[in-house]
Amino acid sequence: MEHEVFHAGLKRRNIPLAIAPFPYPILPITLNTTLREVAKSSSTDPYRFCTTEIHCPNDRRPILFFFMGRVLAVVNQKGGVGKTTTAINLSAALALEGIRTLLIDCDPQANSTGGYGLSRNDERQSTYNVLLGESSLHDITLPTEIDTLRIVPSSKNLIGANVELIQHDRRAFRLRDAIQPERDKYEYILLDCPPALDLLTLNALVAADRLLVPMQAEYFALEGISELIHTLERVRRAFNPILDIEGVLLTMYDDRTNLAQQVRENLRDFFKDKLLKTVIPRNIRLAEAPSYGKPVQLYDPRSRGAESYRELADELLARNEIESPRARERKAAASARGNPTVHFWPYA
Ligand SMILES: Nc1ncnc2c1ncn2[C@@H]1O[C@H](COP(=O)(O)OP(=O)(O)O)[C@@H](O)[C@H]1O
Ligand SMILES: [Mg+2]
Repeated sequence: MEHEVFHAGLKRRNIPLAIAPFPYPILPITLNTTLREVAKSSSTDPYRFCTTEIHCPNDRRPILFFFMGRVLAVVNQKGGVGKTTTAINLSAALALEGIRTLLIDCDPQANSTGGYGLSRNDERQSTYNVLLGESSLHDITLPTEIDTLRIVPSSKNLIGANVELIQHDRRAFRLRDAIQPERDKYEYILLDCPPALDLLTLNALVAADRLLVPMQAEYFALEGISELIHTLERVRRAFNPILDIEGVLLTMYDDRTNLAQQVRENLRDFFKDKLLKTVIPRNIRLAEAPSYGKPVQLYDPRSRGAESYRELADELLARNEIESPRARERKAAASARGNPTVHFWPYA
């Protein structure tokens, strides 16, 4: 059996599809196979497929299609490294590019929820009710100020889910099962994780396609990362074979210090191209914005913080070969301008 891995030129709604060897039983796909049929097949995992028709380029290729990196967990078991700041502002940056985005707050501290100006009110249905199977994700999804962005709020009682879920079956799959019917409605789904490798984070890792790991450029930056990588490998083996790191993001970065530069070099040696080129500088606007209930792009769009999260969104979209609706519009506008007519003074 051929084991080539390549990105196909197939794009639906500008989301790249990958064709790859897969650890699952492999289905022959013919020219007329629809992904709906593939998804229905009992020998494959329906979570990983889009469900609309797409034509395959060649007859009977022993390959499977799946979306790359649509569910992105923002994870690091250390607190205060910029997970929530990244979840809030990256989701806004993607949504402002016209990408349909869902932010799911998986942290009982509910800082992403608060950062979007929603109360952390325990009465409201939240991720807690979803994990316990009392509500569907769809029912508790809330709109935000940005049209293309929705949010699933968290609440303090989510902390109880860690204990209450222990008696439930498929306890690691609760979030993944809940996301499944909503997957196709969004191009990106971001999960803001708690600062622990607990059952909540496990649910996020099982639900995710990729991990985004924010880190501070400090001397002990790598401490704890080996534990995270170990967890990633265990989750991959036991629950979610395609899970991988999308990128490691340096946050609160101060390039004036030698230490920060040194740590960046070390991380580049360790993570290679998984270390993202974009770094998030320390910027007071990023710290202020949540108290106004807004992402930084709406609070101070010209700040360095807003700029850096725009850059992060661009980098992730480029890595995944996704062209956003705004990027398409910019391209169309540029080509419509075509060759500008040059007028010389005096303008007659
Ligand atoms: N780039 C940044 N510049 C300035 N302050 C930041 C930046 N990123 C995060 N912070 C602040 O640092 C604190 C911890 O960040 P947070 O995103 O909540 O981390 P985590 O979710 O990993 O615990 C928050 O008060 C936040 O406002
Ligand atoms: Mg947080």
